[in-house]
Amino acid sequence: MGSLYFFFFFFFLSIELILATDIITPTRVIRDGETLVSSPEVFELGFFSPGNSTKRYLGIWYKKIPETVVWVANRNNPIIDREGVLTIINNGNLVLLNKTKSIIWSSNTSRKVENPVAKLLDSGNLVLKDNFSTGSESYLWQSFDYPSDTLLPGMKLGWDLKTGVERYLTSWKSSDDPSYGDFTYRIDIHVLPQIFIYNGSTKMARTGPWNGFFLGEVPKSPNFIFEPTFVYDKNEIYYRYESVNNPVIMLTKITHSGFFQRLIWKEMGSIWDFVASEPNDLCQYYGKCSANGVCNIDKAPICECLQGFIPESQQNQTSPTRCIRSSPFDCSSGDRFIKLTGLKLPDLVETTLNDTMSLQECESKCLKNCSCKAYANFIVSRGCLMWSGDLIDIRKHVNESSGQDLYIRVPTSKQGSLFCYS
Ligand SMILES: *[C@@H]1O[C@H](CO)[C@@H](O)[C@H](O)[C@H]1NC(C)=O
Ligand SMILES: *[C@@H]1O[C@H](CO)[C@@H](O)[C@H](O)[C@H]1NC(C)=O
Ligand SMILES: *[C@@H]1O[C@H](CO)[C@@H](O)[C@H](O)[C@H]1NC(C)=O
Ligand SMILES: *[C@@H]1O[C@H](CO)[C@@H](O)[C@H](O)[C@H]1NC(C)=O
Ligand SMILES: *[C@@H]1O[C@H](CO)[C@@H](O)[C@H](O)[C@H]1NC(C)=O
Ligand SMILES: *[C@@H]1O[C@H](CO)[C@@H](O)[C@H](O)[C@H]1NC(C)=O
Ligand SMILES: *[C@@H]1O[C@H](CO)[C@@H](O)[C@H](O)[C@H]1NC(C)=O
Ligand SMILES: *[C@@H]1O[C@H](CO)[C@@H](O)[C@H](O)[C@H]1NC(C)=O
Ligand SMILES: *[C@@H]1O[C@H](CO)[C@@H](O)[C@H](O)[C@H]1NC(C)=O
Repeated sequence: MGSLYFFFFFFFLSIELILATDIITPTRVIRDGETLVSSPEVFELGFFSPGNSTKRYLGIWYKKIPETVVWVANRNNPIIDREGVLTIINNGNLVLLNKTKSIIWSSNTSRKVENPVAKLLDSGNLVLKDNFSTGSESYLWQSFDYPSDTLLPGMKLGWDLKTGVERYLTSWKSSDDPSYGDFTYRIDIHVLPQIFIYNGSTKMARTGPWNGFFLGEVPKSPNFIFEPTFVYDKNEIYYRYESVNNPVIMLTKITHSGFFQRLIWKEMGSIWDFVASEPNDLCQYYGKCSANGVCNIDKAPICECLQGFIPESQQNQTSPTRCIRSSPFDCSSGDRFIKLTGLKLPDLVETTLNDTMSLQECESKCLKNCSCKAYANFIVSRGCLMWSGDLIDIRKHVNESSGQDLYIRVPTSKQGSLFCYS
């Protein structure tokens, strides 16, 4: 068994050395029509025209699924003919040139090295490095640091806090046009990390805050398809996943119509299979139920006001702008808190965090401050989140036990009741 393995190992190794098709050097360029192939042959880099477009872009795709492009270099700057060339200039800059040798796209690296080479790794990462150096720390540049619309296994989505660099996904404009579209998929690190889908600068959907174990509603449950990782420390905040069963081809992306999708390639039938596509129900749309409302997909109507609140315009219940206090807010008379369970916590606007306070300390701190409307634990039995503004985008989970608890302030005198609207 072992010797057979080594036989194949050296067999493939020698093929790689002979073809050496996964490397660009200052003297070995890639012209339109030529491609760079990773070894073993999973990814391919070259020029392509998406959909019905005739414009040329430099991209990376799956060798056996050429229509699935996972990265594009010159997204907003297409080449109009088939004369594009990818090469290395100035001892360490990967550049895309057009017919008249104008720089269409550049890796913009400032470091220079003796023997720069660009290599397409089998992860789909295009790296620029010194031929004689090893290890990812020595990369002068890598495409994984500049995601397009696709997050491949092993790529980081999030923040390098030391450099301030954020890696996030930006949708294509359309299936014919890879230029920057309206939708982004990114980690907001205000107060606590949450993943958002934005439409321009408008929040469209969110996971809910990082709670020490998982983001919002998706528990880090074991599955046999992919292994998610979330790193949250003083240097980095990022989400990443790996394919558990390595030969499985999978990706996540933000589509040109604003959906976050997780896809798995089905060899049988040669199709992409959806593992997830979000938003996938009305409650996943950000702020669906106005401020101080709760979205519950199992109820009709799906929206209701929190206890102690009523729709602002009760005459017009079909489209209330927000839920307001059912009685004048009187802080001095001594308030209490109602515990709501199984929720996606409200968005972290006008929210403060103290990650060492206990739940009891949190309650008494919130009670003493009239501007505190609600509080919650950050991690199970530790940490204190306090909301002083409106409570936005709360959702009741389908699976009660996967949600979190929220304590909302109500006057002692009033009995809590729910007001429904559609
Ligand atoms: C390309 O054009 C054809 C005919 O005009 C159309 O049916 C098809 O949907 C287009 N494909 C894309 C990806 O836009
Ligand atoms: C190459 O790019 C430059 C700068 O964008 C442009 O002025 C020039 O017309 C292009 N040449 C060709 C042949 O497309
Ligand atoms: C490289 O730098 C130029 C000039 O600063 C800038 O216009 C261009 O967008 C940069 N390219 C990339 C790929 O970041
Ligand atoms: C890169 O290094 C290998 C050996 O490690 C050598 O065979 C090859 O010629 C080098 N290529 C360049 C462009 O320096
Ligand atoms: C995104 O925003 C634009 C402009 O505000 C709007 O026209 C469009 O309907 C929005 N798309 C989605 C999917 O919400
Ligand atoms: C209720 O709101 C809808 C949508 O904004 C509006 O068309 C309708 O005229 C309103 N009805 C009343 C009675 O205000
Ligand atoms: C968090 O709470 C603890 C205990 O009440 C307190 O000692 C500490 O100063 C608080 N930290 C911040 C940043 O407010
Ligand atoms: C009450 O909460 C508000 C909002 O979080 C904060 O600005 C204010 O300093 C707090 N007041 C006291 C006395 O802690
Ligand atoms: C609900 O969530 C809990 C905890 O995450 C999990 O153990 C349980 O299997 C889930 N139940 C259903 C029906 O999904």
